[in-house]
Amino acid sequence: MAILKIARMGHPVLRQRAAEITDVTAPAIRQLIADMLETMEDADGAGLAAPQVHVPLRLVMFHVPAHRASGTGEDQPAGLTVLINPVVDPLGPEKAMGWEGCLSVPGMVGSVPRFERIQYRGFTPDGQLVQRTASGFHARVVQHECDHLDGILYPMRMTDMSLFGFADEMTRRHREVEEAARD
Ligand code: NI
Repeated sequence: MAILKIARMGHPVLRQRAAEITDVTAPAIRQLIADMLETMEDADGAGLAAPQVHVPLRLVMFHVPAHRASGTGEDQPAGLTVLINPVVDPLGPEKAMGWEGCLSVPGMVGSVPRFERIQYRGFTPDGQLVQRTASGFHARVVQHECDHLDGILYPMRMTDMSLFGFADEMTRRHREVEEAARD
């Protein structure tokens, strides 16, 4: 296990489309997952995508802590989920604004429009297909992480740049920002 270096906005690995993983259960993928888990825990992040550790492959991991999910409808907490070759489909056109941060954009937060409800699927490290419907924070985390696989960082999704700033400045004005800064 190893803590990996996290790429920051401006590095080309964060701007490219990541490649599909052909052998989901390969030892090298297992090792990458173990190292990413350690990296995500060390950074206290809610999620991490492989391009953020300089590996341009379609692999994400995330968790939805109980205090972040509203608990209503499909916005439910989720334990640690590792998804290989994930696909996200919006369920309806509705979007909601919410605060996001990113380990690749350290110290910053922004309010980002995301689809309110989604369906997503992908493979677990054992090669099992997972399919879930999610809304709220759960849906937001999945969209944020999967965007990394297509070279998209959250500031590129923002529609109101007045809601982008340094976390410590924004926290004084918006209490809910505090948690987002660590994602
Ligand atoms: Ni991110």
